[in-house]
Amino acid sequence: MNSLKNKTVVLGVGGGIAAYKSCELVRLLVQEEADVHVVLTGAAKEFVTPLTLQTLSHNPVHTDLFDLTQEQKIGHIALADKANIVVIAPTTADLIAKAAHGLANDLLTNILLATRAPVLFCPSMNVHMWEHKATQWNIGRLKELGYKVLEPDSGELACGYEGKGRLCEPSTIVSEIVKIW
Ligand SMILES: Cc1cc2nc3c(=O)[nH]c(=O)nc-3n(C[C@H](O)[C@H](O)[C@H](O)COP(=O)(O)O)c2cc1C
Repeated sequence: MNSLKNKTVVLGVGGGIAAYKSCELVRLLVQEEADVHVVLTGAAKEFVTPLTLQTLSHNPVHTDLFDLTQEQKIGHIALADKANIVVIAPTTADLIAKAAHGLANDLLTNILLATRAPVLFCPSMNVHMWEHKATQWNIGRLKELGYKVLEPDSGELACGYEGKGRLCEPSTIVSEIVKIW
């Protein structure tokens, strides 16, 4: 595996049940010596705490577009510029739709528009949400826009359904990041 040493990974975490797996992903990236900067959406904070991710990443966790401690440097532009890659894991149906349309109403979606780094989306959701025509259309649009999409695994889902929608294993996501360099 290529080393991630000195590579800056901006890890966006969406508000899905698989957000807990972002903790393991951060741990693996730090083990590979990546410099990890986590951005949580407002919904993600309902699933995983900034304190946990801050402790695991050894860097401040970012949650707000309008953050008085960051804005002397325009926080979203600074994060967008420093990224060697932006990874969103888990990516919600909502984030897929926003990115497909270029919406920018929170910190993470502003970073997506501002960055020149490659972006990897790792979706996770209920199988019916994944198969919905709107989600599939939006995924197609993300690919047209040049984004990478690591499609979800199939299996037992947290909602009780079986099907496609499980977040890929954190180790698979790390391997995909290495391939993208
Ligand atoms: C318990 C619970 C679990 C959820 N899990 C998911 C999920 O796995 N995937 C998803 O796309 N949305 C899920 N949602 C819905 C999102 O939280 C909701 O769409 C939210 O607006 C996403 O915000 P964000 O995209 O800014 O993170 C879940 C909601 C709840 C209450």
